[in-house]
Amino acid sequence: MDERVYVFDTTLRDGEQVPGCQLNTVEKIEVAQALEALGVDIIEAGFPISSPGDFKSVVEISKAVTRPVICGLTRAIKKDIEVAAEALQHARRPRIHTGIGTSYYHIHYKLNSNPEEIIERARAAVKYARKFVDDVEFYAEDAGRTENEYLARVVEEVIKAGATVVNIPDTTGYALPEEFGSKIRYLVENVPNIDKAVISTHCHNDLGMATANTINGVINGARQVEVTINGIGERAGNTSLEEVAMILKSRYKDLHFTTGINTKKIYKTSRMVSSLMNMPVQPNKAIVGRNAFAHSSGIHQDGVLKKRENYEIINPKDVGIKESSIVLTARSGRAALKHRLDVLGYTLSKNALDDVYQHFLELADKKKEIKDEDLEVLMGTFKKEDRHIKLERLQVLSGKSVFPTAMVRVRINGESFTSTSTGNGPIDAAFSAVKQLIKRKVTLEEFLIQAITKGSDDLGKVHVQIENRGQTYYGFSANTDIITASVEAFLDAIGKIV
Ligand code: KIV
Ligand code: ZN
Repeated sequence: MDERVYVFDTTLRDGEQVPGCQLNTVEKIEVAQALEALGVDIIEAGFPISSPGDFKSVVEISKAVTRPVICGLTRAIKKDIEVAAEALQHARRPRIHTGIGTSYYHIHYKLNSNPEEIIERARAAVKYARKFVDDVEFYAEDAGRTENEYLARVVEEVIKAGATVVNIPDTTGYALPEEFGSKIRYLVENVPNIDKAVISTHCHNDLGMATANTINGVINGARQVEVTINGIGERAGNTSLEEVAMILKSRYKDLHFTTGINTKKIYKTSRMVSSLMNMPVQPNKAIVGRNAFAHSSGIHQDGVLKKRENYEIINPKDVGIKESSIVLTARSGRAALKHRLDVLGYTLSKNALDDVYQHFLELADKKKEIKDEDLEVLMGTFKKEDRHIKLERLQVLSGKSVFPTAMVRVRINGESFTSTSTGNGPIDAAFSAVKQLIKRKVTLEEFLIQAITKGSDDLGKVHVQIENRGQTYYGFSANTDIITASVEAFLDAIGKIV
């Protein structure tokens, strides 16, 4: 039988605690509305007592968002609870999230207390919160490092006091997946009233195990997962929403869990949060990283082109990404090049493809990645390979205390000619050398250099316009060496006269 897992998003609370990620109220409302559209069940909108800004955001989000439960965080302190209740007064479905540390460290070194007193404070906080709202979630901070037997006693008592959800955070990200799963199982099997509350996971990623722990928690009985978009959060972050949602979706046949997440909105929401919070997504981040659906090795590209499933377990469309990308690099094969050229509208015979592939490899050796613009240029240059005037060799000398000098060797109708000249710069010197060879009076009317894409390793594009006997001729070339591109563009234009 399918079981529904509730998604509790804490991007606006735990996520927003990250230095530099703070949002203003308008931005928080924007994120909350995106989370609502994404299908999250509970939005933790803030920690109302922590600042007037957080208070205001919880108030405004409660008004602007209607379907999900809106939750406000508190410590197990009366004043915190009162302020949270006030901030949530406009929420259609308010929840107070209160709690206290339960691990040996927290009890003794943070709270300067003892286990019995902690249970009493926990009970009192839940009871007090229930005076304001019907939905109260209790968190046992540092539950990941709390002894199971004691944790079970705390959980039993807070449920008796009225908690509707019991949150078992691995606050320090220390638990192993097997350990965390057993902890949840222990609570399911040893807390007599556990059927009266939902168990929640809240895992941090200090050792990179947040998602694994969360999933193991669900497998062992948790039915709420606390997550953030892009996994942002304190230190190494929280469990990421997109990972959990896609694990449950793609392994549905094995696990039989569903969520209310509209996965097609994942990518859009991820990018929105990343840009509002100024928090770039690491390129290899699962599900939403720039490279999550990009294939760069020849073997993988060939495999994906034959059948996407050969190397992809998720259809990129399922997370709102239009298509997988084939990244063209020096490791790409003919299949990938052909595929991209097909997409760009170039249909080549096998021999032509072999030729273009050699040019492609030469370019790819100079550049890290070949983009569509580069391919367009390559195809343009390739089509001109049968030109009767062609640059064979170019050598330039330039610098601070030297006379710019260029030596060019040009092949004209099958015969090679060499010339050397100086000029007021390397391009001027090279153009002069070319002019000596062609023995025609040409005037340079326009000369334009453009970088095709960003980066110092990218292709430079050169357009020239020359005049000969009152007639204008245009030339074009592109090369990672801008001087070579200039001379080739010049010869391209001259070639049209000769
Ligand atoms: O990590 C944690 O323990 C928390 C609680 C406040 C829920 O964020
Ligand atoms: Zn946390």
